[in-house]
Amino acid sequence: MTSTSYSMQERFAAAKQALEQCDQLHLLAYYEALLPADRQHLLAQMESVDWQELGRLVESHVRQRPELKLPDRIDPAPCYPWPASPDLREKYRHARQLGEDLLRAGKVAAFTVAGGQGTRLGWNGPKGTFPATPIRKLPLFGCFAEYIRKAQQKYSCVIPWYVMTSPVNDAQTRHYLQENAYFGLDAGNVVVFPQGMMPALDLVSGKVLMESPSSIALSPNGHGGSLKALYTQGAVADMKNRGIEHISYVQVDNPSVRVVDPLFIGLHALDKAQMSSKMLPKAFPKEKLGNFCIVDGRMTVIEYSDLPDELAEQRLANGELRFRAGSIAIHVLRTDFVESLNTRAGGFALPYHRAEKKVPYLDLDTGQVVKPQNPNAVKLETFVFDALPFCTASIILQTDRIDEFAPIKNADGIDSPSTSRALQIERAARWLEARGVKVPRSEEGGVDAILEISPLTAIEPGDLADVKLPEQIERRASVLF
Ligand code: UD1
Repeated sequence: MTSTSYSMQERFAAAKQALEQCDQLHLLAYYEALLPADRQHLLAQMESVDWQELGRLVESHVRQRPELKLPDRIDPAPCYPWPASPDLREKYRHARQLGEDLLRAGKVAAFTVAGGQGTRLGWNGPKGTFPATPIRKLPLFGCFAEYIRKAQQKYSCVIPWYVMTSPVNDAQTRHYLQENAYFGLDAGNVVVFPQGMMPALDLVSGKVLMESPSSIALSPNGHGGSLKALYTQGAVADMKNRGIEHISYVQVDNPSVRVVDPLFIGLHALDKAQMSSKMLPKAFPKEKLGNFCIVDGRMTVIEYSDLPDELAEQRLANGELRFRAGSIAIHVLRTDFVESLNTRAGGFALPYHRAEKKVPYLDLDTGQVVKPQNPNAVKLETFVFDALPFCTASIILQTDRIDEFAPIKNADGIDSPSTSRALQIERAARWLEARGVKVPRSEEGGVDAILEISPLTAIEPGDLADVKLPEQIERRASVLF
């Protein structure tokens, strides 16, 4: 039901009926006392939730818990190594060529998922607005936009950029991108759309929590929701109109990510994969990365917390971990695969994962907002990698931590702005050293200068071939290329 075509009474009646059927009528407790604008807001929130599905999820994920049934047989997934082994060099050369051809032909779109709330970082605004680079403090969105501009120039093509927000940060994100003139991209090739939301549920009763008399406690439905929103929000249709065949999926938190990577796209296309992934070899057995595995002949990610210790610890004769491929949330998906996930019999079906969280809520008896000290709520999310088992073909390409993974997730410590900055500087140093520039380093090997290479200058070391570079960098200098 759309909010414009029905009267308030009709909308109220429909909401009441849907809520009654799943025992969530308490959400209307304050309705009569609300101002018209607040009533509108509450009804609009209710209309964004699939209450039938929610009723089923309360049963399966709150009253009961989804049983984790590990398959009898789990094998490590095969991966394309990086750098290429001698027997694969020719295939990589061919794949890169194919990836470049696909880019040149305008068949590739960039896609950034930016719907998360970024709570761990404690940044007041959409995470994409966070200043990420060492010298210019270019925001994350700027890093992706400049990458796309450079790739468009290299391959003489248009790479439309799709940005998934959530209702929590959609207006702010649109405003920010517009205010920054889309960081030099053509506004007509930047498509922003919101993902769906999911209510927080009381841990014991399964009742949906309210955050105020006129508002349900809603949060984004997980990055798996991107595969639904791409379809329901019209992005897939827009892609088909533009002739886009492959979607390059990256997370908003990684300023070093190759937003479109011809080798990766080419290997994925060459092997006729529907969805492919990049991996990093795990640094230690229980590193907090999902594990790429083969289960019943299908590519599957098993979360680090779910992979049994005896498997996580297994090593090959050469000492390598047997399950070494960790997921870093970089994918390429075929547009028609995303479409098929949404049009298959039985509907969109990524499984929901349950997380226990502290969610402030309105106590309906006292009318007071309670800030819980302990987890009081279940949040339900779907994960993008759960689409992998739906593929008949899927490839994994290894990448390099310093080259491609400098995520900003936490305010400090691991995966924080300072670790990301150090990784970005180290990468810049390596690229410069590869072109013969002498970079000052400390005795321990750390770079003793602040370096930044704009994506407009280079998105891979080879691009520096056309750039006039100094012979050496002064100690403690700050240099932007
Ligand atoms: C995720 C992966 C982890 C991987 C790591 C790599 C999961 C469960 N974990 O962890 O395996 O190693 O990234 O960096 O996936 N997002 C949305 N909407 C949502 C939720 C998230 O768009 O509803 C986006 C965020 O904006 C962000 C990304 O998804 O870009 C990652 O979200 P987050 O929940 O922080 O996952 P991580 O814990 O970082």
